[in-house]
Amino acid sequence: MNEHTNLPGLIEKNLPKELVALMQRVATLAARRNQTLYLVGGVVRDLLLGLPNLDLDFVVEGDAIGLAKELAQSTGGKLTTHTRFNTAKLRLDKWSLDLVTARSETYARPGALPTVKPGSLKDDLLRRDFTINAMSIRLTPERYGELVDLYGGHADLRHKLIRILHEKSFSDDATRIWRAIRYEQRLDFQIEPETLRLLKRDIPMLDTISGDRIRHELELELKEEYPEKMLHRAWILKALGKIHSSLKGDTWLQDKFLQARATASSGQELAGLYFALLTYRLTEQEVEEIIAFLRPTRQTAIILRDSSQLQTVVKELAQKGLQPAHIYSILHGYHHTALLTNYIAFSSATARNAINIKLYLEKLRFVKTALTGDDLQAMGIPPGPQMQELLVLLHNARLNGEVRSRQEEEALVREWLKE
Ligand code: CTP
Repeated sequence: MNEHTNLPGLIEKNLPKELVALMQRVATLAARRNQTLYLVGGVVRDLLLGLPNLDLDFVVEGDAIGLAKELAQSTGGKLTTHTRFNTAKLRLDKWSLDLVTARSETYARPGALPTVKPGSLKDDLLRRDFTINAMSIRLTPERYGELVDLYGGHADLRHKLIRILHEKSFSDDATRIWRAIRYEQRLDFQIEPETLRLLKRDIPMLDTISGDRIRHELELELKEEYPEKMLHRAWILKALGKIHSSLKGDTWLQDKFLQARATASSGQELAGLYFALLTYRLTEQEVEEIIAFLRPTRQTAIILRDSSQLQTVVKELAQKGLQPAHIYSILHGYHHTALLTNYIAFSSATARNAINIKLYLEKLRFVKTALTGDDLQAMGIPPGPQMQELLVLLHNARLNGEVRSRQEEEALVREWLKE
């Protein structure tokens, strides 16, 4: 189904002026080189939906790298090119532009990276994942703002449907299973019935995708506004189980993700919390399996391991009448995000364990002694294990509120020295 709609108004309304001017400059430059330029993919979808998206992807019928190089001469910025795919990325202060040469793709085997060769816009749209992502807007001055919708993407947008373009789409690239779920839940759309049937059929094809690519998809899910919705759907559709059979996207997780959002102090911390909550109910052995498969960053691996190990450790925190120094000794050294994960994972914030983790996070971890090793040396204590021991004792006394000032610390040290 072909659909031609004029979109200049939407572009003007939804994109910043400067960016529109830049886009038009690229289009004019392309025209001078006898190339046709199109805006394509997610930004077209979001323009039609009236959603913000400044992630501009361009398709050029012609040499994208040559065009990007010429553009960079006048705009400056950092240019990265990939000759194998004939793509270029130009990073400017405020925006970055992706330019690709229109191409057709074939997959040598399921899950392999595609083999590409130059093609037409039509080929380029056909290689894409879903109809709603396979529309483009012509930017070349002649017929500027024309919608090119060869696969019924605009109609699917109106009917809120996620639909693949051909029967082998998921088996060619099973990461599209995760992508379908992401768009469905983000946009509050539905996976179209035939697409859903093929998605279910091709769940086993997720085994053809490397752990690194799956991790990338998972990280994208965890950056969404409500990742628990996607994880729930992925669990029901058995895609989550392909990461590890013990993972669950159930109501427990939904509840904890909600708390994580209320607790996290940054986007990075939230991403760590989500990941750790997702793996929280796995055994330590299973967490190791996930780390081996997904190969997350060192930092994330520490958070996952610490969160898991802490489950056993924090049981000790349920004891009555624990001294602050004891709480400190139990929790000291674990990653902050792992401690938060355990705090959130307790069913009730009034459980003694949770109260004690909170005490540690809010107060105890900041407690320092006024006296340093140098001060102790000045008081006649030689450096060495004994001094170390004294510093720990002093820190404990400070944690427990037995000393509250430098003077009181000095007095305590003198008392110990007398003994
Ligand atoms: N694409 C695809 N198959 C994939 C990945 C990407 O067909 N496995 C295509 C889609 O047409 C997509 C475009 O490449 O629109 C750009 O990919 P990406 O930036 O991941 O998608 P966006 O649609 O921009 O997604 P988002 O809104 O999540 O950033």
